[in-house]
Amino acid sequence: MQDTLIKALSWRYAVKTFDPAQKITDAELHTILESGRMAPSSFGIEPWKFIVVSNPDIQAKMRSASYDQSKVSDASHVVVLARRTDVRENIVRELLDRAAKAQGKDASEMKGLGDMVAGTIASKSDAELDAWVRAQTYIPLGMMVETAALLGVDAGPMEGFSPDEIGAILGLKEKNLRATTMLALGRRGADAFAAVPKTRRDFDEVVEFVK
Ligand SMILES: Cc1cc2nc3c(=O)[nH]c(=O)nc-3n(C[C@H](O)[C@H](O)[C@H](O)COP(=O)(O)O)c2cc1C
Repeated sequence: MQDTLIKALSWRYAVKTFDPAQKITDAELHTILESGRMAPSSFGIEPWKFIVVSNPDIQAKMRSASYDQSKVSDASHVVVLARRTDVRENIVRELLDRAAKAQGKDASEMKGLGDMVAGTIASKSDAELDAWVRAQTYIPLGMMVETAALLGVDAGPMEGFSPDEIGAILGLKEKNLRATTMLALGRRGADAFAAVPKTRRDFDEVVEFVK
């Protein structure tokens, strides 16, 4: 398992050039999305939605909103990881309903959790709340990147786009969503970046053990 994981993570890189002729399978896509859905979040609020685009016309428009990055139009699928913008209004109720259903309880029995989450939300300014929610959406991104690598699916995480323009193309504002990141999925094409040696800080520079 350890070997498989490290091998997959060494194989993966942020793909710049996808082969537009190659699609990933539904099973691969589903497993990648499922790993994002299973991501942990603060209090379990899951303040995100994953919009999966596999429409060439829409991908072409999204490419224009992404500094013309070819991966947006050439990838098999582009997952837009969006964060919720209606956290103050709806997230506590949704969490309590979800948790109560999963645990076979009534939402009224979840008051302690509800008060804690509501208190945290109330203590934040709008900017702080958005930054908190935004940070959560990087967790499913990381999990999807890792799952894709384990499946041998190529992926390109992206922040290089205009959230306003992507939002307008996909009608995100009306759905109380704002794009945080995107993840292009597919098969690598003739990509010179595949041969570039991985650049990483040394283990001892990144990790410090306190015993
Ligand atoms: C949140 C995030 C945003 C990124 N945005 C872009 C992007 O817009 N365009 C791009 O070509 N690469 C983007 N990258 C890829 C990084 O440049 C890349 O992961 C980093 O240089 C390390 O290289 P590696 O992933 O190939 O090992 C992004 C990566 C992350 C995690």
